[in-house]
Amino acid sequence: MSTIEHLTAADHAAVGCLLRNAYADYAERMGSEWPRLRDGLPRAATRLANAEIAGVRGASGLDAVVFYFAPGKSDGVIFPCDWASLRLLGVAQAARGRGLSRQLTEWCIARARDQGATRIGLHTSEAMTTARGLYERMGFVVDGDLPMNFGLRYWRFRLDL
Ligand SMILES: CC(C)(COP(=O)(O)OP(=O)(O)OC[C@H]1O[C@@H](n2cnc3c(N)ncnc32)[C@H](O)[C@@H]1OP(=O)(O)O)[C@@H](O)C(=O)NCCC(=O)NCCS
Repeated sequence: MSTIEHLTAADHAAVGCLLRNAYADYAERMGSEWPRLRDGLPRAATRLANAEIAGVRGASGLDAVVFYFAPGKSDGVIFPCDWASLRLLGVAQAARGRGLSRQLTEWCIARARDQGATRIGLHTSEAMTTARGLYERMGFVVDGDLPMNFGLRYWRFRLDL
């Protein structure tokens, strides 16, 4: 098991780099929409100020991150505020296949339970098939369609706790 840490403002630049590296998987599929996602990712850590950012450090930087929102802190648009939610799960290309995304998702679920949440939500798109398979094996179910974004269909998923 890797050690999961709460990240701080000192890590925000590294979080942005990691997210760009991870989400570059979808650059080709997103085509002309990719620059909008790519350019927004470095700002996510400051823009999503209600998030706790958790991550795993590697030998030369961050290996993986996730943004976790406690019940009462979710955005109220994609997720009801009283749900816990997780967003922007990303694993560096070089750190894949070691179970880090499963470990970070389990960390969010455990934290949501500890904090008394009755549901935890996430959203994912038609392009994110590896993540979607993981979420479904962990018990998440589709909870409705979301507006298309970056040229992709998105769904909200939820897990009842
Ligand atoms: C999706 C992503 C987070 C997976 O990270 P990872 O740390 O390599 O994944 P893990 O090693 O924890 O594996 C998670 C599960 O996916 C499976 N998996 C991993 N890579 C896979 C692949 N290329 N194809 C199919 N399944 C795969 C694993 O077998 C594992 O299954 P299990 O835990 O049920 O046995 C990573 O590829 C990534 O950052 N992708 C780009 C960003 C993204 O899509 N984020 C999610 C947005 S919703």
